[in-house]
Amino acid sequence: MEKYNSLVVVGAQWGDEGKGKMTDYFAQKANMVVRFAGGDNAGHVINFNGQKHKVTIIPSGIFNKRVTNIIGNGCVVNLINLVKEFEIIKQSGVDYGNLLISDRVQLILPYHILIDEAQENERGDNKIGTTKRGIGPAYQDKVSRLGIRLGELGEENFKQRFKLVFDYQMKFLKNMFNIKSLNFEDTYKDLIEAYTKIKERVIDTDSFIESAIKEGKKVLFEGAQGALLDIDHGTYPYVTSSNTSANNASTGSGISHKLINSTMGVVKAYSTRVGAGAFPTELNNKIGDGIRERGNEYGSNTKRPRRIGWLDAVALKHAIRTSGIDSIFITLLDVLSGVDEINICVKYELDGKEINNLPSVNQKYERCQPIYLSNPGWKEDITKVTSFDQLPHAAKNYLKMIEKVCEIKISGFSVGPDREQTIILENIF
Ligand code: GDP
Ligand code: IMO
Ligand code: MG
Repeated sequence: MEKYNSLVVVGAQWGDEGKGKMTDYFAQKANMVVRFAGGDNAGHVINFNGQKHKVTIIPSGIFNKRVTNIIGNGCVVNLINLVKEFEIIKQSGVDYGNLLISDRVQLILPYHILIDEAQENERGDNKIGTTKRGIGPAYQDKVSRLGIRLGELGEENFKQRFKLVFDYQMKFLKNMFNIKSLNFEDTYKDLIEAYTKIKERVIDTDSFIESAIKEGKKVLFEGAQGALLDIDHGTYPYVTSSNTSANNASTGSGISHKLINSTMGVVKAYSTRVGAGAFPTELNNKIGDGIRERGNEYGSNTKRPRRIGWLDAVALKHAIRTSGIDSIFITLLDVLSGVDEINICVKYELDGKEINNLPSVNQKYERCQPIYLSNPGWKEDITKVTSFDQLPHAAKNYLKMIEKVCEIKISGFSVGPDREQTIILENIF
């Protein structure tokens, strides 16, 4: 097969693995970064030159001037939030890259946010703990063919078309949840106002991306959320509403899977989850609390405290398999300094039997108990380490243990939030 300079970066856990940091890091060498799934439910924190930046829907390559950043067709976009986010970046004083948006992206509209909230309320004790950004309802409308594609906004008859969809949505809100109507004219006006600010950036991005890859340009595909939040392969129903796995990099950006060279999974040195759902390795104790504080494990988007657990190799291997991950990049290794003993979950016990796989049924997953391999911890601060050799013996062993248990190569690791605190072990891009 012909080799291209394309790499997919996906989270291999339940999100917040440090994809933003890694995408920004690799974007320093890239020509193009394409976001292929999710919406502004994502929240990525990126640190360089002593500054901290945040993006939700804009690709994490935006802080690299040479990079063309594309929001691919697999995403759902709240135009008003997108415009706000881009304004903040433009005013931040940093050099930023170009931004383009696929005319095939589906819009998140104000009624989606209301429906998201109403559906969560209806779920009662079974709440998913969504980010309430309207993600699920926007993808529902895409699939039920009630969605609005961004490209339609430039059409003369758009207002009439929008009114039909809008009226249906108001009927749904009223009859299903007894929520009173939004004002059509206001909603339309806000939408067009936001659209006017970005309309020059809206193009048919598919062939643009394809040509770039074929010309030998370096193209990154940036996943959002994590593989375990994938609607098909994640821990359903406690997932998001898109295919977050690497396989969606081609569908979500409109190019052939044959143009993708390799896939890197970003893996936190432990596990976190935001929102509800089974979490066999969860640490509801002082160790977990310590990791949360040292790792500043609070959602960058919703500020919710993240749930903390040991690294789960069973779940990770599931992600590696379903996303076709070629190598993993370990982030937040520094956060484990000072933990006496570090566990890795290597199997589950389910109803008295040992299993090596992630059950597909949530009720079963909730009954899984972790079986651990224990590793000695280390005390040293490793935030200034610049090579594998400089790591304490126990940290080296922990990384080697992850490689062995997960049967995958570690292509690098990260010892702090800054761009500079990144150690490459194998040149993959
Ligand atoms: P993303 O959604 O996958 O991009 O991850 P988030 O940005 O939501 O969460 C990761 C958090 O960890 C951010 O605050 C990053 O700045 C931070 N981070 C990334 N890598 C490291 C690391 O190696 N060490 C530490 N201490 N923080 C890191
Ligand atoms: P990044 O890209 C962590 C979680 C929510 C909830 C579930 C469904 O920063 O890693 P949704 O609003 O998508 O319908 O919520 O998915 N979730 C995330 N968790 N990181 C994310 O994004 C997430 N995006 C959604 O907490 O459990
Ligand atoms: Mg995040």
